[in-house]
Amino acid sequence: MIRSKIIGTGAYVPDRVMTNFELESIVETSDKWIQERTGIKERRIALDGIPVSHLAFGAAERALKDAMLDPLDIDMIVLGTVTPDMPMPSTACIVQHKLGAARAAAFDVSAACSGFLYALSIGDQFIRSGMYRRVLVIGADMFSKFVDWSNRDTCVLFSDGAGAMLLEATTSKQESRIVKSTHLFSDGSQGDKLYIPGGGSLNPASHETLYDGLHYVKMRGNELFKIAVKAMVDACHVALEQNNLRVEDIDLVVPHQANIRIMEAIAKKLKIPMEKVMVTIDYYGNSSAATVPTAFDKARRVGKLQEGDTVLAVAFGAGVTWASSVIQW
Ligand SMILES: CC(C)(COP(=O)(O)OP(=O)(O)OC[C@H]1O[C@@H](n2cnc3c(N)ncnc32)[C@H](O)[C@@H]1OP(=O)(O)O)[C@@H](O)C(=O)NCCC(=O)NCCS
Repeated sequence: MIRSKIIGTGAYVPDRVMTNFELESIVETSDKWIQERTGIKERRIALDGIPVSHLAFGAAERALKDAMLDPLDIDMIVLGTVTPDMPMPSTACIVQHKLGAARAAAFDVSAACSGFLYALSIGDQFIRSGMYRRVLVIGADMFSKFVDWSNRDTCVLFSDGAGAMLLEATTSKQESRIVKSTHLFSDGSQGDKLYIPGGGSLNPASHETLYDGLHYVKMRGNELFKIAVKAMVDACHVALEQNNLRVEDIDLVVPHQANIRIMEAIAKKLKIPMEKVMVTIDYYGNSSAATVPTAFDKARRVGKLQEGDTVLAVAFGAGVTWASSVIQW
């Protein structure tokens, strides 16, 4: 049986740090409110003129270095993003060119904050089917260019970043760095809870769409909160069941970082102590598709992820979409 082995990981975030105190001078908010209601202390924001492909390229380069792999060995690049450089070409193709991964098929996946786990699932299926040997999976987003910086409901939450994983086909029975399973879910009826109405074929960019701010993220945060908790808990249960695992078997949960209170609610419902939950929202905010791969990479770097650990990754985003995955490290 062919399975995907994770042979490299990498993360890349902009250097520019924006603190809550800086936001206090932009909108009517406070460091206290943001920390208490979201868990965020600061976030990374890209400078003007830097596109999301730059971050994705940075994460991919680091994953390639980690795996000691030549870009020409990559068969496919799948990139989860909803904040592409432009509507076309795909950001994956831009990254392919920047990397010099000339042999790779490349395309984007639109699943918002679940984008990385959707991309991971696609990469894993191509490997399991025997079609490709090496797949580069990336989650990258740059919401700083899509939030209204005068709207405190959204501008305090989102950030920029990218994370990557390199998958390689293996037929070994060894349970080391293996993607055990992925599980994907969607409910389009909840699409109005988080969306960007302008700039597409429904509301093509015009003076009016700009004037009405339709190019900005619209979010019903309060309603999303409850949907997100239930969806992610359900996705965790499916992942556990399909792998015959008990909650106690999980060594590390790597959740999407939308709000510390969402992560705490999930941990409580699953009866998993917060010490087993990887938290990066305090210093990185919500970087959408980048949260899971950057948190995973960070867990490796800070020694929170050990050889032999069973990892449960889970995400939720616009669509709405949600997903989970079990990784045997
Ligand atoms: C957005 C979110 C942080 C808001 O927190 P909340 O506790 O639900 O807060 P509410 O929206 O109920 O607002 C509470 C009050 O704080 C105010 N408020 C909102 N943003 C604020 C800010 N940045 N600073 C200060 N006050 C703020 C509101 O205006 C409201 O004031 P009111 O009571 O006078 O009307 C939270 O709902 C959330 O994280 N939702 C999920 C987000 C998510 O999952 N996104 C999708 C996944 S990517």
